[in-house]
Amino acid sequence: MSVLVALESARTVMRIPTASDAPALLRYRIDNRAHLSPWEPLREESYYAIEHCAQAIADARETARLDRGYPFAVYDRQTQEMIATFNFANIVRGAFQACHLGYGVAASWQGRGLMAEVLQAGLAFAFGDLKLHRVMANYMPRNERSARLLERLGFEREGYAKRYLRIDGHWEDHVLTSLVRDDDAH
Ligand SMILES: CC(C)(COP(=O)(O)OP(=O)(O)OC[C@H]1O[C@@H](n2cnc3c(N)ncnc32)[C@H](O)[C@@H]1OP(=O)(O)O)[C@@H](O)C(=O)NCCC(=O)NCCS
Repeated sequence: MSVLVALESARTVMRIPTASDAPALLRYRIDNRAHLSPWEPLREESYYAIEHCAQAIADARETARLDRGYPFAVYDRQTQEMIATFNFANIVRGAFQACHLGYGVAASWQGRGLMAEVLQAGLAFAFGDLKLHRVMANYMPRNERSARLLERLGFEREGYAKRYLRIDGHWEDHVLTSLVRDDDAH
């Protein structure tokens, strides 16, 4: 799969970011720091610097080139602003054909159905072009927005993992969910 992949939805375009997107990624990180930090690993101060963004983009492109993950940036069709991210991470091929899904939307876009719109296109790509069989998404029990989003997309609860991820400095329990292809086509 090429790192040049571009997906579209009614309000957005989605692609693996390129080196020239580093300033847009920095703006997204800074503008959404307070909004995203309760749901993400603790970030060092260097995370909010252009060098870190440039390195993250280089890493994202290499990860996609190696088919290990597809970290997408999402842009507003009208303003070209970066407004969300999502990532098909930790891809395992062989008999598993699975990955983990992570995502977030800008505070200014929350509650407008954007993440659902974006992930519908993203999941079509994951099950289509990427030929994945299982996409796993996990959320903290108190993340009600995330729970509702995944349920609406058809993800099913598979378990509950105690102290599963270190989020904002604490090992947090997570609800484990998956969306699974129900045929043997690939
Ligand atoms: C979780 C998160 C990605 C959800 O993003 P979102 O864009 O608000 O989610 P959705 O696309 O599902 O839209 C949510 C709401 O918009 C409303 N909405 C408005 N217009 C809509 C439309 N045209 N279509 C669908 N929903 C619409 C829906 O009613 C929905 O509300 P509900 O969940 O109460 O039913 C976002 O809250 C976020 O970034 N949180 C911080 C990071 C995070 O938690 N990441 C996930 C960690 S597991």
